[in-house]
Amino acid sequence: MHFLFIHCICYKLLSYIWMNMDHNGETEDTSVSLLSPKRLRGKVAVITGGARGIGAATARVFAENGAHVVIADILDEVGASLADSIEGRYVHCDVSKEEEVESAVKQAVEWKGRLDIMFNNAGIAGFGGSITNIKMDKMMTLLAINLNGVVHGVKHAARTMIAGKHGGTIICSSSSAAIMGGLASHSYTMSKEAILGLSRSTACELGVYGIRVNCISPHGVPSEMLVSEYRKFLGNMELRPDEVSSIVGERGSLLHGRGGTLEDVAQAVLFLASDESGFITGHNLVIDGGYTSACSQMSFIYQE
Ligand SMILES: NC(=O)c1ccc[n+]([C@@H]2O[C@H](COP(=O)([O-])OP(=O)(O)OC[C@H]3O[C@@H](n4cnc5c(N)ncnc54)[C@H](O)[C@@H]3O)[C@@H](O)[C@H]2O)c1
Repeated sequence: MHFLFIHCICYKLLSYIWMNMDHNGETEDTSVSLLSPKRLRGKVAVITGGARGIGAATARVFAENGAHVVIADILDEVGASLADSIEGRYVHCDVSKEEEVESAVKQAVEWKGRLDIMFNNAGIAGFGGSITNIKMDKMMTLLAINLNGVVHGVKHAARTMIAGKHGGTIICSSSSAAIMGGLASHSYTMSKEAILGLSRSTACELGVYGIRVNCISPHGVPSEMLVSEYRKFLGNMELRPDEVSSIVGERGSLLHGRGGTLEDVAQAVLFLASDESGFITGHNLVIDGGYTSACSQMSFIYQE
């Protein structure tokens, strides 16, 4: 009995070491992974808009989980410094230009020989105002980044993953604004709604190759984009990220007082990037503290 127990423990330990071997057969430091297994070990990921905000938080979480990360952005200095800190790569890439997205994907393949994960995250807030004054040129500029940028990402990731013949996972950034009106400008709302449609239709086409396509819909996360928007709306240029978080927690979340964080979104993307979500495709994972699921103004009806 005692022998059987020791045999079993040894077998489990050996299996664990085997699972934690790198491609070249060297054993990596498993001291951390014994407590928390690396969920993206050896996978290769491209993150557009990965220099700061949600993209940067996701790049760090991916790297902590064993992925090789290519950050594709237009903020060269910040992006390159983050890439260095996670032993990744930085590539200048304006997602509105198809050839730059294609090149970012190619560089990932040249670096590590494959592409497993594409996170189409780059986006801008754009401009607000009334539909009666909407400026078509400004709207087209926003759509070129928020929507065309995602189309470019899905297209070139899909081509590469199909050629690689080992499937892959594509995640696109939509928004709570795509689910509920009144949360963002008309152009932004439109771009994010279109991303949901594109993700579903491409999930349908690409499933046969083992490629999953999903969306995330964050809400009220105090990134530079959101904080600068709130500063403009509230006319307070000193507004801090924690203050934005408090406002969202109080007014925009069913989890009273709890706003979303960059880490909340990064963890949701990690789930969709990992094999743990292997049977999930065509899905929109909403990270909004339940805000778009229910109207809390009537919650008095639950009182005894
Ligand atoms: N913060 C939120 O609450 C929230 C909510 C819903 C959706 N989102 C979406 O999440 C994504 C990330 O936004 P964030 O909140 O981290 O904002 P952010 O402004 O902090 O980050 C956006 C990143 O995209 C990059 N970028 C902008 N234009 C680009 C271009 N043309 N090519 C390549 N990169 C470009 C920026 O340089 C930056 O690194 C966006 O698509 C945004 O719409 C954010």
